[in-house]
Amino acid sequence: MNDAMFWVYACTTDELAEGRGLGLMLADARGVTNAVALFRSEGVVYAIEDRCPHRGARLSTGPVYEPCKIACLDHGWSIDLRSGRVDPPESARVRTYPVRSDGGALFVGFGERS
Ligand code: FES
Repeated sequence: MNDAMFWVYACTTDELAEGRGLGLMLADARGVTNAVALFRSEGVVYAIEDRCPHRGARLSTGPVYEPCKIACLDHGWSIDLRSGRVDPPESARVRTYPVRSDGGALFVGFGERS
């Protein structure tokens, strides 16, 4: 982990169900508010930008339809939660964030890697 990472409380671990998304507005160290979508897939929690690169729909409403893949509900673009890459034939990427679990709480990291 990057020591310069700024960790922001997101939710309790119980608030994020397997296969579901949770949309949050989180402020980074500069006070800039970021729309972040959390997902749990096969027990692992991922955080990505909550904005589809196609036409800006919220990704947190989309289902995890196979391990580590979500679908945007507006037009069906598929996004890999690990990399943020949109699956072909489309080509785009959403921002990803590191996630840390501590004492039953989930934290999202903001920093150089974000
Ligand atoms: S807005 Fe997400 S696929 Fe179109």
